[in-house]
Order: sequence, then structure tokens, then C-alpha cells
Amino acid sequence: MKLSLDSRGLTEVRTDALIVGRHAGESKLAPALAALDKKLGGLLSKVMTAEKFEGKPGQISHVHTEGRLPAARVLVTGLGSGKSDAEAVRRAASAAARRARDLGAKSAAAYLAAEGLSPRARAQAAVEGAVLGTYRFDKYIKEKSPKSLDAFAVVEPERRSQGAAGQGVRTGEIWAAATCLARDLVNEPANVVTPAYLARRAQEIARKGRLRLKVLERADCEKLGMGAYVGVAQGSLEPPKFIHLTYMPKGRARKRVVVIGKGITFDSGGLDLKPADGMYRMKDDMSGAAAVLGLFSALPKLALPIEVHGLIAATENMPSGTAQRPGDIVRAMNGITIEIGNTDAEGRLTLADALVYADKEIKPDEMVDLATLTGAIVIALGPGLSGVFVTDEGLAGRVLGAAEAAGEKMWRMPLHDEYKDGIKSDIADLNNISSQRGGGAIVAGLFMRDFTGGRPWAHLDIAGTAFTERELPLGPKGATGVGVRTLLAYLQSLAGRR
Ligand code: BES
Ligand code: MN
Ligand code: ZN
Repeated sequence: MKLSLDSRGLTEVRTDALIVGRHAGESKLAPALAALDKKLGGLLSKVMTAEKFEGKPGQISHVHTEGRLPAARVLVTGLGSGKSDAEAVRRAASAAARRARDLGAKSAAAYLAAEGLSPRARAQAAVEGAVLGTYRFDKYIKEKSPKSLDAFAVVEPERRSQGAAGQGVRTGEIWAAATCLARDLVNEPANVVTPAYLARRAQEIARKGRLRLKVLERADCEKLGMGAYVGVAQGSLEPPKFIHLTYMPKGRARKRVVVIGKGITFDSGGLDLKPADGMYRMKDDMSGAAAVLGLFSALPKLALPIEVHGLIAATENMPSGTAQRPGDIVRAMNGITIEIGNTDAEGRLTLADALVYADKEIKPDEMVDLATLTGAIVIALGPGLSGVFVTDEGLAGRVLGAAEAAGEKMWRMPLHDEYKDGIKSDIADLNNISSQRGGGAIVAGLFMRDFTGGRPWAHLDIAGTAFTERELPLGPKGATGVGVRTLLAYLQSLAGRR
């Protein structure tokens, strides 16, 4: 989709679909809409009344202009009631862009005035909404829909706001493209997305963005003592790849951050095999890794003054004659021994070694991981909220603030120390599952905390949010790309940019 800024007035914009926002509870037409309505001889207000347009989020009324305006159609899109935030603009833009596309429009231009949002934030949100809302993964379908929106413009007639709005369009384009890259990676099936495939994609991203990339092979990981990670990989014919991407800012870095993504390219459960229902969607068990790759595709374009390291301990989790057995004992890179209580609790094992690697080899100021880690978080929070576990209050504020700014719903969860008793083992330092029932997402967090070396650490359990079985306001069924925009907003806030 070609994205741009249109600096013309609304009655001058030439496009297939002119999108204008309207708040709920406005009795009078705002000046922008009133001017359009006048040109249309009152048709717009008539249609809105007839269709009981109330300005609710997702609601849209449209008219054909029959040559009375340079735009072929006008679409009015609901912004909801009260002061609209960035998420209201994203959703209004998404709904309208989808409708414009379905009406056969090839181009659209949007004017979504939202009080209290800067012209920059408004433009960024509109672009994110349009791109994410019209995202499709149809590369394996022969008969693709001919309907596609090829161009989207943000209308900003105000002279003094145009510079900022242009920046917003560019930032929105970068953030949305990074999210779509993550979605594509997750939507691709596991027979395509292997650990080696992730390493190749990392290489491509590194080459394009002039980033440093190190890929550790199985033998390298063994040498470093990553027994927990390597143990998960031993059942698969696909060789594991430990991916380490680095973004170095041009000048002095304000902070050094590590971002880790769970990269299980397929989680069969291992010898503790999942039942068919539970296994079906397990290609999405690399959604954290996809978010990290999405992030790194964007970083070179943003020039943030932060040193960012991305880690993915990529592997499949498969049952076989060489697979890890329940009851095996492995030793992680920090020397902690782990009894394998269940081979299906593999994510925490791979992340444990990635955390130790980060602590020892990178020595960051703070670390964030994203992982489709537990079914328990899906039970606790459902499909709409990611769980956030944090060991540091400053970091907690930054991550939750970033999620809020990105419109990705997240909820803080407790690292309740008393549950640590449950992951004691009789014959090793830890067990990878708890002997007690319940609180599975917390238990996984407590397990991983032992590998952080006491550094500020945030763990995002995205098992419920990485993939959606229903269409959402900002995307179709399938991968959501969750975490990419939260990470970008988090790094932006660390850089002191808001
Ligand atoms: N990848 C799964 C978690 C998951 C479940 C992700 C549902 C997405 C949707 C993880 O590796 C897993 O299998 N966790 C087990 C842990 C248990 C054996 C302690 C779980 O949650 O059931
Ligand atoms: Mn598992
Ligand atoms: Zn898993």
C-alpha cells in the first residue's frame, strides 16, 4: 500500500474514498463534514440520519458524490464518544479502509480529527489502522480477492501541522510494516518456518539494515553450556539456530536492552505429546521470535539512541528416538540443573538459556522477553490480554505505558514467591513444571526469573494474543503481530521520545 500525506482541503482531495471521522454524540456536523455535506446538497446528513449513524466505533455510512466533489465517495467513520485516543483513530481508519476496499476503491484518504492527539500521533495511528486493518495472508490461495486498497493518504490541510503529520505517516508505515512482517512469519506454516528459515530471515534483515548478526549452531550452544536449550532441540531433525541480532546506534547509546523471542517453530509437546486439538495451531509458538524480527526490521529506519540486542533460541519441539525424556536432567548455561517434569514445558527451557546468555554475554540494563508460554495465561486473561511479569517497577511502567500507547492490551501479573516451592525437584535444582496445581503462567515466570541474574526483566506471555480465531478491529483471523508495536513504543520511551 502506497502511503502519503495529502495537504489539500477536504473538498479538493481527489481519491476513490474520502474518509472522515465523526464522534458519537455530536448533534451538529463538525465544520469539515458540514462543508462536504453542503457540496453534496445535504445528501451526507440525510444518509447518516436514515442509517442512524451514531459515531460508534466501527460504524460507517457512505455516499457516492456523483461528481459533486473530486472524491468519488465519502465514508464517515465512527470515532466513539469522549476524547478519542490513538486507538480510536486506528480502529476508525481500519474499519473505513476495509469498507473502502470492499466497495472496490483502490485509493483512500482519511481526515480523522481527534482532540488531544498531536497531528503526528493522529497521522501515525491512521496509517497503522489502514495497513493493519487491510492486512491479508493469501499467498497460498489461487483465487485471491481482486479487491485491494493500493494507496492511502492522511489528509492534513493545516500548514503548520504538515511536517509533523508527514513524520507520523512515515513512522506509522514503519511500525505497521514491522507488524505485518511478524504476522507473515507466524501465518507461514511450520514446514516452511524452521529454525534455519528464521536464521535466513534474520540474515536478510541484518543485511538490509546493516545490523550485526551472529547465529550459533548446536555445537556452539553446547560449548557455551546451554544444556536446557539444546535438550529441547535434540528430538528434532531440524538443527537449532540461536540467533543474535544487534542494533548499534550511530552516537552514544543511552541504554542497552535485550529483547528475547520464544522461537519454537513447532511445539508438538515432545514425548509428552499434545493431543490433536492442542497441537494444531502450534506453528504460532514462534510468535515472540516473529515480534523480535519485526522489531529489527524497523530499528535501522528509526535511528533510536538505544543499543538493542535480539535473541531467538530457535528450535522445534518434537518426539523421536533422540528426544528428551520426562525425568531427564539438563544443566543450563548458568549451571542450574533442571529436571524435565514435562517435555511440553519447553519454552521456559529455551528462554532460560537465552536469558543467561543475555545476562553474561551482553550485560544489558534491562531485558524483555515475549513468549507464547502457557495455556494458563489463556485461561487467566483470555484472547484479549497479554500477561506481563516484571521484576522492576521502572521497567513495568515503561512496558505497560508502551502497550497502552500501542493499543495492545496487557495486564500485570504477580511473580508470587510462594509458588516457588512447587518447582523444587528432589534430584535437581529445579523442575520445569510445578507439583502444585494452578497458576501455571506465574510458575513459568518464577522459573525463568532464576536465569535473569537479577537484572531488570519483563516477561510478556502472549499465548492468548499472538493468534486470533476471529477477525479483530485491527486485523483478520490469524497472526496478530502482537508485541511489535509495544516494543517499538517501549524503545521510543527509553529514548525519551514520545
Ligand atoms: N506453547 C505452549 C503454550 C501455549 C498454549 C501457547 C496454548 C499457545 C496456546 C507451551 O509450550 C506449553 O505447552 N505449555 C504447557 C506447559 C505445561 C506442560 C506446564 C501448557 O501451558 O499446557
Ligand atoms: Mn509446549
Ligand atoms: Zn511451546
